[in-house]
Amino acid sequence: MTGDLVVPRSVAVIMDGNGRWAKRAGLERIRGHERGTEAVRTTVTECARLGVEALVLYAFSEENWKRPKREIKLLFGLLERFLVQERPTLMDNDVRLLHSGRRERLPADVLALLDETIALTAGNRGMRLGLAISYGGRQELTDATRAIARRVAQGELAPDAVDEAELARHLYLPELPDPDLLIRTAGELRVSNFLLWQISYAEIWVSDVCWPEFGRDELHAAFRDYGRRVRRFGEVR
Ligand code: IPE
Ligand code: IPE
Ligand code: MG
Repeated sequence: MTGDLVVPRSVAVIMDGNGRWAKRAGLERIRGHERGTEAVRTTVTECARLGVEALVLYAFSEENWKRPKREIKLLFGLLERFLVQERPTLMDNDVRLLHSGRRERLPADVLALLDETIALTAGNRGMRLGLAISYGGRQELTDATRAIARRVAQGELAPDAVDEAELARHLYLPELPDPDLLIRTAGELRVSNFLLWQISYAEIWVSDVCWPEFGRDELHAAFRDYGRRVRRFGEVR
């Protein structure tokens, strides 16, 4: 039943709890990540079907580089598989893939597959899917500041011309609208360095369900709750 859903224009998701889900099931953490990729397919397909314009999924943070090497390696292996296997899903649903984050530390194989999938889907006109990989909100703002400073130093930009719009133009995915709704799974009440600039006025919805178990019903529950929010943007309403 989707009759009473209010579909946000832009959605961001902190996909958390893969490890806890696996542990509870008596499995290795990586099995949780594996199941997590199935949840990604469900959410991407359903958001596209419902008419979400932009979906940004937090897949790997800058801080996640501090995890054990073995987990990182397995995670990127899963990501590589996902980037190839899900091409038909992206094409069938008219989804355009984009990357948000730093490229420097990503393994060459991952980058190649990422770029190939981005190129393959570049002509799709439906939902835009931002995959945040090696992403950090502070790092994004640092990179934007550095790019602006360079332009100012070269005389291309006057210091007084640096306003909110100018800063926003230097973020990793300036073309995406700010999230209306930020979803976090697995119950933590924090943003973990995700989209610090863009979530200024996002509605936040936290589910206790771990990411591998996040399905259509939870997504619909989030959208239903979103529909009941009163967004004031600082005004009196
Ligand atoms: C989220 O699940 C996936 C990534 C951060 C890559 P976690 O791996 O953080 O799972 P928990 O939070 O330990 O349960
Ligand atoms: C946030 O989850 C990052 C991703 C979902 C990719 P974490 O598991 O890394 O966040 P913390 O460490 O609990 O804040
Ligand atoms: Mg976690």
